Amino acid sequence: MRTLDQISWENFSALSLGEKATALMPDDRPYHVLLAQQFQRRHLDALGDLATRIRFIAKNREGMAFLHSLMAYRRAMLYFSQPSSRTFLSFCAACEILGLAIGEVRDTSTSSELKGETQEDSVRTFSSYFDLIVMRTKEAGLAERMSWVLSNTDRPIPIINAGSGRDQHPTQALLDIYTLQRSFAARGGIDGKRIVFVGDLQRGRTVRSLAALLTNYRDVTQCFCAPPPFQIQSDILSMLDAAGVRYEVSADFTGMIPGADAIYMTRVQDEWDSQIGDSARVDVSQYCFRVEHLSLLKPTAVLMHPFPRRNEISPDVDRDPRAKYWRQMRNGMWIRAALIATIFGHDQAIREYHEKNIPVA
Ligand code: NCD
Repeated sequence: MRTLDQISWENFSALSLGEKATALMPDDRPYHVLLAQQFQRRHLDALGDLATRIRFIAKNREGMAFLHSLMAYRRAMLYFSQPSSRTFLSFCAACEILGLAIGEVRDTSTSSELKGETQEDSVRTFSSYFDLIVMRTKEAGLAERMSWVLSNTDRPIPIINAGSGRDQHPTQALLDIYTLQRSFAARGGIDGKRIVFVGDLQRGRTVRSLAALLTNYRDVTQCFCAPPPFQIQSDILSMLDAAGVRYEVSADFTGMIPGADAIYMTRVQDEWDSQIGDSARVDVSQYCFRVEHLSLLKPTAVLMHPFPRRNEISPDVDRDPRAKYWRQMRNGMWIRAALIATIFGHDQAIREYHEKNIPVA
């Protein structure tokens, strides 16, 4: 298998998503985390299992001391040039759980980029001081380009994509999968479920990445429910066709609720409007989950949202046990800790500690 230092940028960037995904998993383990497509079922099962073990180990002082000791000699750089609350904070918390020290650039006007430094040089600079870069950018392919650049220096360090433009948000998709794994643990897991995506599916990177991860499960139906201007893009539908996944495309939100096992609400991504106010012309009032919709929802279904929310889910719904978005958010911390531990090869030590010290319930 070719890794990023054995291939030119031109050849790497010309690879298909599937070929890139393979190049990103040397020894079947994530190094750079750039694409949802690099995770297969066995990786998702292992990450979910590890996240749960970390969650239990972190419940007491001794366990937390063990987790802290794992990576106390490492440092992570969080480079977020686009706004973020949950992704940033949950990565901070995940790093702290594992003992990594954290540096951050959130505003490039305070960094040398203002003096005209290229993003390439900025990222190489981070690799001089840190062991891991977590980056969120408004440019779609930047994390990919930087990963290739770093892999071809004498100080390669892993990059985790924490959101790349409208394209990908692989770690959000991992936390969404972990939430679905936990929600359906007693009901046969994610296989066979019907997942309904709602909102701005055209520009939502979380939906694109989660749709890709869900192709790993058997007999899942993916439903895309949006007003026509915000409907899912054809590249995702082609990906589903190629994977033999059943899907439905609809504009009828209320009609989709009764059959859903999970409803994944999203906000209008108006930061991508070419002109301010463009998307305000699209009527999304029918694509909001309100209290009266609860009676239509299966008793076993779950309601999710990557957040931030505007009015897609009424706060009155929060107290319903099927509303999982607060737990989903916290799951982000556990799965990101599991991911970082796996990248650096500490997963086995965590499993052994768990088996030795945590009584089976
Ligand atoms: C999402 C994002 O940034 O893409 N938020 C997140 O990471 N939880 C979704 C959004 O901004 O709508």
